[in-house]
Amino acid sequence: MARQQQFDVLVIGSGAAGLTLALHLAERMRVGVLSKGQLSEGSTFWAQGGVAAVLDDSDTVDAHVQDTLIAGAGLCHEDAVRQIVGDSRDAIGWLVQQGVPFTRERREDGSETEGFHLTREGGHSHRRIIHAADATGAAIFNTLLHQAQAHANITLLENRVAIDLITSAKLGMPGNRCLGAYVLNRDSGHVETFGARFTVLATGGVSKVYLYTSNPDSASGDGIAMAWRAGCRVANMEFNQFHPTCLYHPRAKSFLITEALRGEGAVLKLPDGTRFMPRFDERAELAPRDIVARAIDHEMKRLGLDCVYLDISHKPASFIREHFPTVFERCLSFGIDITREPIPVVPAAHYTCGGVVVDPSGLTDVAELYAIGETSFTGLHGANRMASNSLLECIVYGRAAARDILARFDSSQLPDSLPCWDESQVTDSDEDVIISHNWEELRRFMWDYVGIVRTTKRLQRAKHRVDMLLAEIHEFYSNYRVSRDLLELRNLALVADLIIRSAMLRRESRGLHYTLDYPDMLDEAQDTILQPPSAGD
Ligand code: FAD
Ligand code: SIN
Repeated sequence: MARQQQFDVLVIGSGAAGLTLALHLAERMRVGVLSKGQLSEGSTFWAQGGVAAVLDDSDTVDAHVQDTLIAGAGLCHEDAVRQIVGDSRDAIGWLVQQGVPFTRERREDGSETEGFHLTREGGHSHRRIIHAADATGAAIFNTLLHQAQAHANITLLENRVAIDLITSAKLGMPGNRCLGAYVLNRDSGHVETFGARFTVLATGGVSKVYLYTSNPDSASGDGIAMAWRAGCRVANMEFNQFHPTCLYHPRAKSFLITEALRGEGAVLKLPDGTRFMPRFDERAELAPRDIVARAIDHEMKRLGLDCVYLDISHKPASFIREHFPTVFERCLSFGIDITREPIPVVPAAHYTCGGVVVDPSGLTDVAELYAIGETSFTGLHGANRMASNSLLECIVYGRAAARDILARFDSSQLPDSLPCWDESQVTDSDEDVIISHNWEELRRFMWDYVGIVRTTKRLQRAKHRVDMLLAEIHEFYSNYRVSRDLLELRNLALVADLIIRSAMLRRESRGLHYTLDYPDMLDEAQDTILQPPSAGD
């Protein structure tokens, strides 16, 4: 494989956002799509609940917008919310056209109707979540991947870890335009140079920065870290969402129990069977996620519990098996029959509400560089993302960015030949234990000090530790050959620093950011926007 490659558009990430964009461009352009592991590596494949959209005649765009604004605790950008929610029907239409097998509504006799079944999740005032049973992400991913594989203009490349963006500023040229990326080919061990007219970051979120997470291993914030190093602003990183209900079992790594269970009537209980959510919020189990996760955290700390319980066993067994086959099977594999007994659950890091600042087309501060999906900050989620709004954002922004690229394609140019990655000063590492130790330490102090409930002192402790880790990792990175683990650690430490700095700047409690030192919400809502060091540094 050549060490220099060129595409019209280089898409870093093969989740819902990256594949949507690639499919909208492929009629006119050659598109390269990278995934750092298998193509299914991202969060998209694991999404359960569904996609929020205004599809029912009794629902309205205004109601969906209002629900999003309320969940976002005053920090959503209403124009972005209206853009995304306003496009929701079209976005679903496009997914249906691609062939996504969404679950149909059934008649009383069990036969399927033409209409889609809509479920409900926290914060939504209507049933508006379209889904494919409880494995919506896999249905969307498999469908879009199938379409992308069939397209001659799309090249899908697995095991390619983007290391850093190549920009004119870094090459000492005028302005700051993105020219492509350096990418580690994990099969050959070599670093390849990809040149492109346009580069798109679709790398997902950063929840792997926490010890306990619902996310797959890919969620190490690579896109946000690369964008920051290239000169992009990053916003609202203090708002990392904790999903209230992940399965608590020693052998279950990162298994989510979808909020749609609560949407269909599941209740949260203490070990003695007492229901507790009504004590915290009148919306009880269907309050926005920040409230439910904090209530669970509070009860676990108050009573010294390892977990609480989610109970849907009062519903008919046939209903549970039909609507939640994935959750049913997975829990059964751990000896838990959810049709008969409650499920042990704990909160875990789930979604990154902040990210790379973009305009309504997904364009970042660096010319010809876009960011879409969970990596980006569009203003949709505010201080707390409402359930199932993120896949919607991936589809809407995948299409918006593609339109912008199409409009600018004729006036764009492929970069001239780019310098190769310089490995002359590095050797093979003989101390990989440093990487595994630092991974563990970072994720643990982020969980303990920068988690669901924060204090200024805890944030200061975390800042002190991350500063030491950043110095150590920088030294390691400068001297040794890169590996996926080292690259992810480098990015995780950087995004941890961005999260801590953002959290220290917010002197109030709002949405997902709750600090005992500033428990009240300020009258005026403001984004936390961090400026990178000057591009090219
Ligand atoms: P991802 O799907 O995460 O894809 C990221 C891609 O980037 C991957 O291909 C990865 O390999 C690649 N990548 C990352 N770094 C690099 C690099 N350095 N080089 C090369 N490639 C790289 N949202 C909803 O709206 N509804 C739901 O029901 C829902 N359920 C969820 C359930 C779970 C368990 C999880 C984890 C999330 C859920 N979410 C849900 C959130 C939603 O799934 C994600 O926000 C969304 O899928 C993100 O899509 P994406 O395309 O931005 O990134
Ligand atoms: C879930 O199914 O509970 C996850 C939904 C989401 O994160 O949007």
